[in-house]
Amino acid sequence: MIKAALLGAGVVGTGVLEVLETNNQAIREKMGAVIEVVYVLEQVDIPAHPYRNLFVYDYNVILEDSEVKVVVEAMGGLNPAYDYTKKALEAGKHVVTSNKELVATHGEELLEIARKNNVNYLFEASVGGGIPIIRPLHQCLSANRISEIRGILNGTTNYVLSQMVDKGQSFEDALADAQAKGYAERDTTADVEGIDAGRKIAILGSMVFGHAISPDDILMEGISKLTRNDVDLAEEWGGTIKLIGLAKELDDKSILCMVSPFVVSNHSLLAHVNDVYNAIMVTGDATGNVMFYGKGAGKLPTASAVVADVMDAVFHRDARRAINWTSADKPFLADHRCLQTRLFIRVVGTVEKQRKLIEEKFGEVEYITRNSEGKAGERGISKKTDDEFAFVTHVNMEGELMDRAKELERAGVEILSVIRVLID
Ligand code: HSE
Repeated sequence: MIKAALLGAGVVGTGVLEVLETNNQAIREKMGAVIEVVYVLEQVDIPAHPYRNLFVYDYNVILEDSEVKVVVEAMGGLNPAYDYTKKALEAGKHVVTSNKELVATHGEELLEIARKNNVNYLFEASVGGGIPIIRPLHQCLSANRISEIRGILNGTTNYVLSQMVDKGQSFEDALADAQAKGYAERDTTADVEGIDAGRKIAILGSMVFGHAISPDDILMEGISKLTRNDVDLAEEWGGTIKLIGLAKELDDKSILCMVSPFVVSNHSLLAHVNDVYNAIMVTGDATGNVMFYGKGAGKLPTASAVVADVMDAVFHRDARRAINWTSADKPFLADHRCLQTRLFIRVVGTVEKQRKLIEEKFGEVEYITRNSEGKAGERGISKKTDDEFAFVTHVNMEGELMDRAKELERAGVEILSVIRVLID
């Protein structure tokens, strides 16, 4: 029997206990041993909790039990998870986590502590929920030089956007649904403002490009400023709006890493990733594009990745291989103004009235007007309006395009929103 301890009996923690119980037989056959959670650390009693019989309230009970070989950290947040993780690794216990905030913030240090103590620190569940992505990047694609990762990395916002587009649900109702389904973070600001996706792309970028990328150093924009009219005009153009995280190597070898809403053309596979699903596109020099797709949040998908890491840690009782990244000795992150993009710009007025000024600044552009009530009208939400329209610019550096947008505004055109367009 392999003894494990679980820190945190919330959504993910309870999912881990359920998966271990439900798939007990299959896991036993694969492992040749049973994995048994013998302690669940909680701060306070939860009387109705189904696994309350395992509750302990003092972390030292777990640390001091030499039979506990694996600690599953499903607490979330930095404190006390950071301290507990360090102590477990230093005590020679493997640690498995779904905590992207901790991995993104202290991954470099924790991986080094794990290496020194010859144990594993595994975090497959921290990115993409149930989708295998950390291990494929580290192992299956390791013969490639990876130039870019882009993807939908937050299930909550993708669910909210899908509900708004397909069902005409309001932002608030869709977010409340996502919370009820266990997709959202405790503080939904992290989902809505792109912080959760930012932590995830920082982890992927750090792994792939080898240097620690701090979420604090990258652009993280969320979906809270998007309006129904943006969504409808993007649809009229032949696309949809998605929250995209990307990390890519530029020609000068600097790394551009960011999260923001993008208008994604319907020709892209990413445009068709809906609800709680995530998709991550990895571009390798040998493989070309490889796409990973699956449920990016939720109790059981996330627990599936955690339990697989526990099995992996146990299979490789000595540290299996060193996933690591190090601090760069010189600045290596590119400014997001270097992104090659097009801009989707929504403005007040009619094409007829504004065309001259727009084309003076941007040259030829694509105009998008609400030609019909279309799908938006069917949903009964947004009505055809004659007093605003959008246009999509040519491809250029983001900084250059943003500067021209400012000039347009100074020339008297009222800009309602500016959204990047994802280009190949
Ligand atoms: N809140 C996260 C999401 C959970 O919605 O993607 C999974 O990391």
